[in-house]
Amino acid sequence: MRFEEKVDLGTEFCGLRLVNPFLLASAPPTANGNMIKRAFELGWGGAVTKTIPPDDMELRDVSPRLKAVRQNNGKIFGLENIELISCRTLSGWLDEIRDIKECFPDRVLIASIMAEVRQDDWQQMAISLQKAGADALELNFSCPHGMPEKGLGSAIGQDAELTTLITSWVKAVATIPVIVKLSPNVTDIGQIARAAEKGGADGLAAINTVQCLAGVDLDSFAPQPSVHGFSTLGGLSGPAVKPIGLRCVAQMAEASRLPISGLGGISSWREAVEYILVGASNVQVCTEVMLRGYGVVKAMKSGLARYLSSKGLSSVEELRGRALPKLVSHASLSREFRVWPQIDQMTCNACGRCVTACRDGGGHALHIIDDQLILNEAACTGCGLCINICDSLHL
Ligand SMILES: Cc1cc2nc3c(=O)[nH]c(=O)nc-3n(C[C@H](O)[C@H](O)[C@H](O)COP(=O)(O)O)c2cc1C
Repeated sequence: MRFEEKVDLGTEFCGLRLVNPFLLASAPPTANGNMIKRAFELGWGGAVTKTIPPDDMELRDVSPRLKAVRQNNGKIFGLENIELISCRTLSGWLDEIRDIKECFPDRVLIASIMAEVRQDDWQQMAISLQKAGADALELNFSCPHGMPEKGLGSAIGQDAELTTLITSWVKAVATIPVIVKLSPNVTDIGQIARAAEKGGADGLAAINTVQCLAGVDLDSFAPQPSVHGFSTLGGLSGPAVKPIGLRCVAQMAEASRLPISGLGGISSWREAVEYILVGASNVQVCTEVMLRGYGVVKAMKSGLARYLSSKGLSSVEELRGRALPKLVSHASLSREFRVWPQIDQMTCNACGRCVTACRDGGGHALHIIDDQLILNEAACTGCGLCINICDSLHL
């Protein structure tokens, strides 16, 4: 029997039943109905459409609008985008929403929407999309580029009063759950989570991208991605933003009782588990799918099922929030607990990397004597730098 068959990956979000906790985030992989249907065939539990604008909002994307941020080994660990929301308007989406739900009635389809601060626009979009069969609405108060210049996107999610107001407009007409997608580009995400709750939100999602500038070309001085020599601040996604996403979700779980859809830098079942442990009910994925395709969900599902089974758990819900009681104030952390690195002499080749790091960034406690790495315990400050830079040192 496969692990997925032993463990029920099914879960609930705002009263909606998800066959598994993996959703596609609002982004290019959910740009149209055919793409979403192809993803559902491959096993995604749900999808959030690329953010839909009202019919009278004219949008035109620039080219190029993506720039990878790479590690020294060339691996992509972040992706900047300056892409706008869907350039296809509401009317174009309605038939596709109907069609997706007809073909996949057991999958959750969430319509992401964005409009100007006009009550009628938000309410008309909500009414049309719920009539077309969307299972929930996700209010995009969090896109950090392009839209905020016009007072939309993160310009709304950076203002607690506007967040409450627009959420309450949508809630006044919504017969389906309303989820608010929050921006990490705020001073206190807990405050904005509470503002959404005050407006009547049924759930929260975070994070949208982290405002960034991917780089600058050293020859032309053009910021990247360069659109004919010019650029603009964009949004960072992918593995680099996971620590920020986890922090935001933990703070939201602390500040509000609303269920949370967690995202930002999820590339395998492991990061998904981390998000669930800090309070997410389910997770969304964008960049990993853009880089490796819809098929990644297969390993995510089997990995999560295997993990739950190894922990003796039979549902995702049993895992939710289990790390939160262990996240305490700095003052509450033990001052008695102390680590000293253990040196694995079998694998250490005395290259000296840790010695240099400890000398110039630590307590100058590591030395190579007669081709062997030695720790001076009295000088060690217990910072843990060395164990982070070499596998031959551990706790
Ligand atoms: C090219 C691109 C376009 C995106 N477009 C949208 C969008 O239209 N609406 C939205 O809410 N988020 C949008 N996002 C943000 C993603 O939904 C997601 O919040 C973010 O990328 C973090 O998740 P990830 O690290 O898995 O990519 C976009 C992201 C990328 C990379």
